Amino acid sequence: MLFLDSSDPAEVRDLFSWGTLSGVTTNPLILSREGAEGELEPRIRAVCGASKGHVSVELLAESEAEMLEEALRYHAWEPSRICVKVPLASEAAMRVLAALAGRGVPTNATCLMSFGQAYLAALAGATYVSIFSGRVRDMGYDARPVIAEVREGLDREGLASKIIVGSIRQAFDVTESLSAGAHIVTVPPPILRKMLWNPQTERTLREFNEAWKRRGGRE
Ligand code: E4P
Repeated sequence: MLFLDSSDPAEVRDLFSWGTLSGVTTNPLILSREGAEGELEPRIRAVCGASKGHVSVELLAESEAEMLEEALRYHAWEPSRICVKVPLASEAAMRVLAALAGRGVPTNATCLMSFGQAYLAALAGATYVSIFSGRVRDMGYDARPVIAEVREGLDREGLASKIIVGSIRQAFDVTESLSAGAHIVTVPPPILRKMLWNPQTERTLREFNEAWKRRGGRE
């Protein structure tokens, strides 16, 4: 399955019209890059209106109490759609993840680079565990064994979490992530467009259409 890694409502609406996308992921960097100004709530509501499935919204707070308050506030905006992204960077984050899972709030444990992090999040009941392929590679490691080991662990223990692979830098990362065992890849808009394009398809169509024109064919 594919999610869209974007917070731009116009782009989200446009690309959901292809019929291939099942959810959206956002993060503070994407929101800043895509020019989200002012309040977060109207922007996220607009993204929900332009899409279907879960829309992941990332926590910014760092203390346990603030993270929990922020998570419940985001979730209340659209309870059937908002998935709370919990950056797994502290023990407090683990407790928040477990508390949200216990309340039935959909969660996306994010910024994961290793099997250990993803396994802990899955055991705590995360709906999604997000492995950051491009950023794992930035450290000099291959992301594929991490994805495959997490998938094996989930399947072996019957854990319900779904693997999202994010931090996608090129179209081939999508192929690699899915064949390594990702349930979902979250794709930035330019990469989704690159997946569609193939020069051989263009050449083939040109050849077909030129042959038809030479023959003087009509519909
Ligand atoms: C996924 O949920 C993240 O939003 C995203 O893929 C992070 O990718 P980056 O490495 O391009 O920041």
